[in-house]
Order: sequence, then C-alpha cells, then structure tokens
Amino acid sequence: MNRHDPATPPRILIVDDEPDLVELIGLTLKRMGIESVGAGTLEGARQELRQKPYAFCLLDLKLPDGNGLDLVEWITQNTPDTSVAVLTAHASIEVAVRALKLGAFDFLTKPVDLTVLRQLVASAIRMARGQPPAGNQLIGEHPTIRELRALIMRVARSQAPVHIYGETGTGKELVSRLIHANGPRHDRPFVPINCGAIPGELLESELFGYKRGAFTGAVSDQPGLIRSAEGGSLFLDEVSELPLAMQVKLLRFIQEKTIRPLGMSQEIPVDVRIISASHRNLQEAVAQGRFREDLYYRLVVIEMSVPPLRERLGDIGQIAPALVSRLTLDRTVTLAPDALSRLQAYDYPGNIRELENILERALTLCEGEVIHGGDIHLRKSERIPVPERTHLHPLPVYLKELEKDRILQALRENGGNKTATAHHLGISFRQFRYRLKKLGID
Ligand SMILES: Nc1ncnc2c1ncn2[C@@H]1O[C@H](COP(=O)(O)OP(=O)(O)OP(=O)(O)O)[C@@H](O)[C@H]1O
Ligand SMILES: [Mg+2]
Repeated sequence: MNRHDPATPPRILIVDDEPDLVELIGLTLKRMGIESVGAGTLEGARQELRQKPYAFCLLDLKLPDGNGLDLVEWITQNTPDTSVAVLTAHASIEVAVRALKLGAFDFLTKPVDLTVLRQLVASAIRMARGQPPAGNQLIGEHPTIRELRALIMRVARSQAPVHIYGETGTGKELVSRLIHANGPRHDRPFVPINCGAIPGELLESELFGYKRGAFTGAVSDQPGLIRSAEGGSLFLDEVSELPLAMQVKLLRFIQEKTIRPLGMSQEIPVDVRIISASHRNLQEAVAQGRFREDLYYRLVVIEMSVPPLRERLGDIGQIAPALVSRLTLDRTVTLAPDALSRLQAYDYPGNIRELENILERALTLCEGEVIHGGDIHLRKSERIPVPERTHLHPLPVYLKELEKDRILQALRENGGNKTATAHHLGISFRQFRYRLKKLGID
C-alpha cells in the first residue's frame, strides 16, 4: 500500500456544506501543522480526491448533492490510502455505525468537540503513515491511577455492569473505552450515548429504535442505539441525567436483555455490556428521588472512580508531555522546567480536559519549540467558558459562542491589537474584521 510519507505535511479534506464549521476545523488543524482543504459537496470532494493524495477525509453525511455514505464507499474503492471519519448529529449514531461497516475508521458527533477532533486526526495520520496509534492510555504513576489501571484489566474480563464516577474531564470515557478495548468484546462496537444530550422526547426512539410507521416521520425501521452496540459495549454517559420515565425502560432492558422498538409487538434479544458514567453522585440522586434505586443497583455492580487531577498533580510531569505530543503531531515541542512547575501549581477544576486546553493555548503562544512558563496561562477567567449545557444549543449558536470566546480571549492576550490578534488566530486581517462585525464584537 502506498503509505503517506512522514516527510510531507499531511493534507486533510473536510467535506461539509457549513462554511463556518469547515473554517473552524481548518483553523484547529492548522495549529497542528496540518493543511486542509474544504469541499461543500460530494462532487467537489471527489474532484479533490482525484487530484491530490489526502491522508484523511472528514466527512459530513448530509450533503446537498447526496448521502455521504456513498462517498465513504467511493473512497474505499478509489483512494484507499485516505482514511475517512464521518460527522453526524448525535441522533444518528446508527448511520455512523453503517459508515464504519462501509470502511470509515471512526465517527465524530456534532457539535464537534475540538479535542476529540484533534485526537482523531492525529491517530488517522499516524495510521496513514503506518505508525502505531498513540494516546488512549491512562497515563500516570500515582497509586490511585496504578490501581485504576489494574482494576480496568480485571473488570474488562468480566461482563458485569460498571459505573464510573469522576469529576468532569477526569478521564471517565477513556476508562470506559479501555475496559471495552481490553475485553472479549473489543472487536465489536463501543457505542457511547450521552444521556444528557439527547432531548427527552427523542430518547426512547433513539435508544430502542422504531418500526416504520410507528409515528409521523418514522419512514424506515431503525434498530436504535442499544441494538447498534450488539455484541459490544454500551456506554451510558451522564446516566444521572436520564429522565425517570426512561429509567424504567432502561431497567427493564437490563433485566430482560431484550428491547421492544416503538411500534413493534415482539421483544428483540440484545447482548451488550453496560458501562455507565456520571459526574454526579448517583447515590445522592437516589436519596433525592431523582434516580431509581432499583436501576442504581443494576448499574453499579462494579464501581470505579477516577480521581481529580489536583489529587495527582505529580502525574502532570508525565501527562503534559504526552498531551503536547498528541496535540502537535509533527513539531517536537518540549516543556521547559518553569512551565512544568507552573502547571503543577494549579488545581484544575476542569481536570485533564482543562490541562489539554491550557497546553493547546500554550502551543499557539510559544515561539520556537519550547513551551516556557510565560506561555502557560492559568487564570480561571481566561479559561474558555463552555457552559455546561451549550451542547444543547443548535450547532450554529454553539459555534458562534465558541468563536466569540476565542476571539475575545485572543484580543485580550494581544492587548487589543487587531493585527496581532488576527495573526495569532491564523486568519487574515480582513477575515478577522469581518468576523468581529458578524459576531457583534466592538
Ligand atoms: N490519565 C490520562 N492520561 C492521558 N490522557 C488522559 C488521561 N485521563 C484523561 N485523559 C484525556 O483527557 C481528556 C478527557 O478525558 P475523558 O473525555 O475521558 O474525560 P471525561 O471524564 O469523560 O470528561 P467529561 O466529564 O468532560 O465528559 C481526553 O482527551 C482523554 O484522552
Ligand atoms: Mg465524557
């Protein structure tokens, strides 16, 4: 196979008809030293792919001239050196699973989490170059982390439901993926469901599926998310957010190991392993009557907890360099001792995810290939304020907020100097002025 040469900078094709999103992703990739090209249609994408080699293609499935799944197939047949990841709305993970079957290597849900995007792109490029995928390891030597690693391996072998408790950004999803990856179901799907992000009225049809004609708009049979994890693991993230009515249905499914899609009369057996997580104390939720006790006992057969980063600050010496190399790909950036000691003197309310954000900013600020203490900004007011439930806003609103925060923050860092800010953000002065106007920033 004609592997992509590590000496040439990787090139990525972003196929989406939403120019703002293409631009945001392009900016993110640019910071990783990756060149990207946007295409708004399937035909435009095919033209690009015929002309130049692309290491990776990020593909929205809904495009003006057709279904992205067709392009996944086309790429598998015509440019097999290009790995593909698909972008889908939260509500259509089943389609994403279909894309995986057609040869896509991963999927990403909208609104796009830029950290997840960076990791996905980095591992796609490593794969394209025939290098082993990095990341996806629970790094750290603190006793609680060593214990957690050992527990993951033990738990992976069992089929018992696991509940993972931990503050936001501590690594709950990473732990659950490791449990799946190290167990007998590793070659079957791992299906994450964010129970807090799917609107209540859609939850039942999303999880349990439906029969064609079950309700207006049900134009074809849908297996539902639970069934799309058949043989694999179902990750119920933020499970404490499940409405009580859904808790009853979930309990039933766990007890019977069958589901009944909307509009169907028979029960369908499903074999999945259940892993759940929450940043809230489930027992407290039970005491307050917000979470069913019987469901609690079904989910929390094995309990694991991921400690907050402030309780294992010593591990930053290992974690930070690993995150930096994951964020940079081609540059070899190191952390100066003063940068490390600054990082180790902070309490991280947002845990490792916050550490990632801090490092990402440091990377955009640092000159040359060393991050110094001065590049590390820890003041809480400077963190990107992503309100807890912004992911419930429509994508354009969410992106606008994100963009606005980013711009304001960059302006602050550059003392209000617009030319410097535009440069810092990697866009032209004209583009910058246009965005200020569009976002209503004075
Ligand atoms: N011990 C670790 N070593 C290296 N990377 C880690 C570690 N723990 C977490 N990460 C990374 O930190 C980020 C956040 O982890 P993850 O998404 O698993 O956290 P979470 O608890 O699910 O967060 P949230 O509450 O925001 O959903 C990910 O990029 C993950 O890969
Ligand atoms: Mg998570």
